[in-house]
Amino acid sequence: MPSSPASPIPAQSKDTANEESILSGAATVPSSPAYSIPAQSKDTANNESILSGGFAKSKDAVGAKDTPVIRTESLTRTYRMGTAEVQAVKNVSFTIQRGEFVALMGASGSGKSTLMHLLGCLDTPNSGHYWLEGEDVSRLSTRARATIRNRRIGFIFQSFNLLPRLSALDNVTLPLMYSVAQKSVRKRAGEAIARVGLASRANHRPNELSGGERQRVAIARALVTAPSLLLADEPTGNLDSKTGLEIMALLGELHRDGSTILIVTHDPTVAGFAERVIVMQDGSLMSNEYF
Ligand SMILES: Nc1ncnc2c1ncn2[C@@H]1O[C@H](COP(=O)(O)OP(=O)(O)OP(=O)(O)O)[C@@H](O)[C@H]1O
Ligand SMILES: [Mg+2]
Repeated sequence: MPSSPASPIPAQSKDTANEESILSGAATVPSSPAYSIPAQSKDTANNESILSGGFAKSKDAVGAKDTPVIRTESLTRTYRMGTAEVQAVKNVSFTIQRGEFVALMGASGSGKSTLMHLLGCLDTPNSGHYWLEGEDVSRLSTRARATIRNRRIGFIFQSFNLLPRLSALDNVTLPLMYSVAQKSVRKRAGEAIARVGLASRANHRPNELSGGERQRVAIARALVTAPSLLLADEPTGNLDSKTGLEIMALLGELHRDGSTILIVTHDPTVAGFAERVIVMQDGSLMSNEYF
C-alpha cells in the first residue's frame, strides 16, 4: 500500500508492507515473483476427492448458520517456472464447518501454504471453486478479495509480522482502521489485547516483547475484527516448544469460544490440539481424520 503523509503507519520493508495490505484490506496484494503467473490447468474434471467429506453439490445458503465456513471443489493452483509447471494444489475438495479446529499437515513442498493462500483470498485458483460461508470467492477482483480478507479472515504467521515501530496496541488497531468507527478502535483493540493476556504489555513495541508475546499480539490482531475464519501458517514454528504449547492452548481457548481455525503445522504435538487433521501430499489431500 502506498504510504501517504497522513497515514499513521510508518514505511516498512517490502514484506511488512505486504503484510499490512493483508491486514488492512487495502486493494493491493502481495507481489508475486514474475515466475508465478498462473497457468491454466486442463485437468478440471474428475473432481471430488474421496476424502472430501461428502459435501452437498447444491450451493450452500449464504450466511445460513449451518453453511460451512470453507467449502472447496477441485481447487487447483499451478505455478509455471519457465517451461516447467508445478501443480502446487491439485483438485482439493474439502469442507470445514463453523467452529471446527483443523490442522493441515504434510511434507515440505506438499502445497500447504499455497492452499492457505487460496483459502485466505491472497491468491486465486487456476480452476475449481472456493465458497467462504457460502459465497463463491474464487473469481473475485483483487479489491473484493482485499475487503474479504480485512473483514472475514484473521491471519497468524510463523514470523509474527508485526510492525516494529508500533506498540502492541497500535498493531492490533490496524485491521480496524478501514472498517470501524474510529472512536471504538482503541477500545476493541484493548479488548483483543486483554483476550490474549497481554493487557499489561499493550504499550510495548515488538522488540520489547518475547516471541510468545509477539505471537499473542499477532493473534489479537487476527481476532480484533471478529473474523469468520482464523488461518495460521506454522504459528509455533519460531517458538520454543513450551511457548508453542502456550500459543496452542490459547488457540484452543478461542476454538472453545467458537472460532473456526485452520492451522498448518509440521509438529504432531501441535496438531494434537486440533480436532481433525488433514494431510497433503504432492498437492493433493491424502487424509481427513477426526479425533
Ligand atoms: N511462488 C511460487 N512460484 C513457483 N513455485 C512455487 C511458488 N510457491 C510455491 N511453489 C511450489 O509449490 C509447491 C508447494 O509449495 P508450498 O509453499 O505450498 O509448500 P508447503 O507445503 O507450504 O511447504 P513448507 O512445509 O516447506 O512450508 C512447491 O513445489 C513449491 O516449490
Ligand atoms: Mg509452507
